[in-house]
Amino acid sequence: METKVVKIEEKNIDEKAAEALKKAGDVIKKGGLVAFPTETVYGLGGDALNPESSKKIYAAKGRPSDNPLIVHVYRIEDVEKIVEDMPEAARKLSDAFWPGPLTMIMNKNEKVPYETTGGLDTVAIRMPNNKIALELIRQSGGYIAAPSANTSGRPSPTIARYCEEDLSGKIEMIIDGGQVGIGLESTIVDLTSEVPMILRPGYITADMLKEVLGEISIDRTIIDSTSTQKPKAPGMKYKHYAPKGDLMIVQGAQEKVVEYINSESAKAMEQGKKVGIIGTESTKMLYKADVVKSVGSREDEKTIAHELFKVLREFDDEGMDVMFSESFDDSGIGQAIMNRLLKAAGHNVKVL
Ligand code: TXA
Ligand code: MG
Repeated sequence: METKVVKIEEKNIDEKAAEALKKAGDVIKKGGLVAFPTETVYGLGGDALNPESSKKIYAAKGRPSDNPLIVHVYRIEDVEKIVEDMPEAARKLSDAFWPGPLTMIMNKNEKVPYETTGGLDTVAIRMPNNKIALELIRQSGGYIAAPSANTSGRPSPTIARYCEEDLSGKIEMIIDGGQVGIGLESTIVDLTSEVPMILRPGYITADMLKEVLGEISIDRTIIDSTSTQKPKAPGMKYKHYAPKGDLMIVQGAQEKVVEYINSESAKAMEQGKKVGIIGTESTKMLYKADVVKSVGSREDEKTIAHELFKVLREFDDEGMDVMFSESFDDSGIGQAIMNRLLKAAGHNVKVL
């Protein structure tokens, strides 16, 4: 299959762009797949109410079919049509954060096929904050099932070129809307438990949710690396976001971290290995390796969320054998950053 790539600027959806989005919508309505930008990461979209489309999504990603998909909507009325009933908490959260990087889990009704929910009676729903995505959903009939547009196990794509790398030849179309704004996947909150529970940390933090709901809990398995229990979001159990080389996170006082990483880097390079280091704006000049990259600034952790997956992908492209990364604060958006980084490193952490 030839994959068509169409460039659209979110800030400038002119007639030509609108026409292209209508065509992309037709592709989805007919059961085809289209990768598209959202504010978090690129999604791989198919008709959420068509079981055959969901099957195709799993096949294109190489994803286990017990890992449910997120259903994307463009207006709130459409949520009510696919759930048993919309809890009060969902109304409050959608008022506060939609369109935006928050996914809510509710009890589904018969309109949503089990192929889309990985056999579960619940459905994950989100309204993305990206004009291209919203228009595409509208043109597709209102419901797009979309996991991140990467091959299963690889870092989620934050630019269209990475969708092409993973999915070219396997899907009908890729919409290139430039680099995404946030860079990490949405926060997932389960509204079917008595106290709403965070199943995946993201840009919408626990504190932000608490402010709206009063009470919020978190699935401990996703922040405690020693937990042997199964995470409640099936996708969180898989090895995810994995770069091809070995990645180690080094934790401790900055001076010690720099010293340790430089000494390990020197050893690995002596053995003929290609070494990459993930530092920050204030430390990148202190490291010695084949490639040193800054992932952003500690003063503004949003910059780190924005760059993390891109840096991991770049290291893959540059063929790193060994990588070292600094560790980050585990609060606010830092919780999402560390959750993804720990997964990428397979929980390989050196504490100094
Ligand atoms: O930001 C995002 O959420 C992106 C963009 C494209 O919207 N999408 C995304 O989808 O990250 P995906 O498929 O890569 O991750 C979805 C996660 C998986 O961990 C899955 O197990 C969980 O959501 N999930 C989906 N439906 C669920 C449900 N009914 N119950 C529990 N977890 C669910
Ligand atoms: Mg994913």
